[in-house]
Amino acid sequence: MAEYDYDVLVIGAGPGGYVAAIRAAQLGLKTACVESREALGGTCLNVGCIPSKAMLHASEYFDAAANGTMSKMGVVVEPKLDLEAMHAQRLDAIKQLTGGIAFLFKKNKVDWKKGHATFVDPHTVDVGGETVTAKNVIIATGSTVTPLKGIEVDNEKQVVVDSTGALELREVPKKMVVIGGGVIGLELGSVWRRLGAEVIVVEFLDQLLPGMDMDVRKDAAKIFKKQGMTMMLGHKVTGCTVEGDTARLTIEPSAGGEAQAIEADCVLVSIGRRPNTDGLGLDKIGLEVNQRGQIETDHDFRTKVAGVWAIGDVIPGPMLAHKAEDEGIACAENIAGQTGIVNHAVIPGVVYTWPEMAGVGLTEDEAKETGNAIKVGKFPMLANSRAKTNHEPDGFVKIIAEAESDKVLGVWAIASVAGTMIAEAALAMEFGATSEDIAYTCHAHPTHSEAIKEAAMGVQGKPIHV
Ligand code: FAD
Ligand code: NAI
Repeated sequence: MAEYDYDVLVIGAGPGGYVAAIRAAQLGLKTACVESREALGGTCLNVGCIPSKAMLHASEYFDAAANGTMSKMGVVVEPKLDLEAMHAQRLDAIKQLTGGIAFLFKKNKVDWKKGHATFVDPHTVDVGGETVTAKNVIIATGSTVTPLKGIEVDNEKQVVVDSTGALELREVPKKMVVIGGGVIGLELGSVWRRLGAEVIVVEFLDQLLPGMDMDVRKDAAKIFKKQGMTMMLGHKVTGCTVEGDTARLTIEPSAGGEAQAIEADCVLVSIGRRPNTDGLGLDKIGLEVNQRGQIETDHDFRTKVAGVWAIGDVIPGPMLAHKAEDEGIACAENIAGQTGIVNHAVIPGVVYTWPEMAGVGLTEDEAKETGNAIKVGKFPMLANSRAKTNHEPDGFVKIIAEAESDKVLGVWAIASVAGTMIAEAALAMEFGATSEDIAYTCHAHPTHSEAIKEAAMGVQGKPIHV
């Protein structure tokens, strides 16, 4: 029998890879993890979830002070922006959390191999000249920004940036054009709008946030407009030139029509992300990617090459940190001979704007497409006592249930804490709950979560507070 250096070698230390490595080590497997960045944690901790939330949270405070929300509650302050300090607390959060993973690797005896991994054969990987062998290799190489043809990103110059550049702007732009009204565009557009930039969002489709329930998408456009962003829905950028510190953009209706020119001192390109397999040497092991550049796996996260597994953004499914983490755990458990399962039908998604927008399960349109009759309950946050008291009038909770069985098929919410509220819906759906189960569960008062109970009561046509 072949002797290997490791039982498991994970390529990539993002939320998929580092979690897989820790779980594999916990299960008694000799494990190493290769990472080409200076710090562990992948996109999520270094340039994604964590730094964006650090800027969103800090800018929320600034906005609350600047836009009258605080003075309405009797706290009168004139905010002064110290952008350097705001960036410093972002960098501090990254440092602490990435350092935390290095600690967890030591604690669990996971070896960190620093460098870029390239396959030599299915059980052999080259890491900067060092040859490492393993019985099982997990590909967790994540994703990178999708480029927009004809538009060159230069994060150093800070005129045309991607999400990484938009997290690090040295000055608040006067005018920022966001190309793509998806999650990144709305989160990072919100940050700079709150700090004083004029923000214009150019979205190819007729609505923001593809993939979310249509009620969320329609309300999102109204809410962001109310906050001062300009929404150019059904438009596309057809050209962009940079002269000095100014970008000149040509924008046209997606369906064709008259072009218009817009100047901006910052352009954020956020039209999606693509799987990262560059330089991985997949050809050396005979593994091909699909049309979207993703590595296909079976339900257990096995690729078609024996001993090679894949998880996270590099495989099909939503590009979300918690999806990658759960796949990492399940994959490690399968390698250890256990039964690791991820229920891909119940993966919550959250947009961390103000208010937050969240959902889990089917949209109303998707539920209708199943052909089964459905019932829908919807409850406005305006009628939720806590949201009303907190001066948070926007949003709703919507529950979609199968008419005959009453089984909950999807839950969608816009609320200040929708990201936290959606966990209850995910748990309910994971246990196969009916809307009646949620309606008869006692919810603490006064909480935003009572809106979930009321929406569930609404499925039966009997909410109390509307
Ligand atoms: P990644 O986190 O991308 O990690 C892959 C790692 O592999 C990288 O560190 C890379 O350097 C390394 N790597 C790649 N190739 C090699 C190689 N050949 N050798 C060695 N190392 C290699 N998701 C959420 O759920 N919530 C959020 O709030 C959220 N916010 C986001 C905000 C932004 C601005 C961005 C860009 C993304 C955000 N995401 C969020 C998405 C989230 O970051 C990803 O879904 C998640 O990081 C994917 O995890 P992963 O482990 O698959 O890959
Ligand atoms: P996205 O897929 O969310 O949105 C991209 C948007 O750009 C879409 O609305 C699309 O219609 C539009 N678009 C595409 N081409 C265009 C063009 N030429 N002109 C104008 N609009 C165009 O992608 P985004 O925002 O870049 O995020 C990438 C990934 O990162 C997402 O899949 C998301 O899951 C993940 N992410 C998750 C976050 C979260 O969970 N809170 C936060 C940030 C990112």
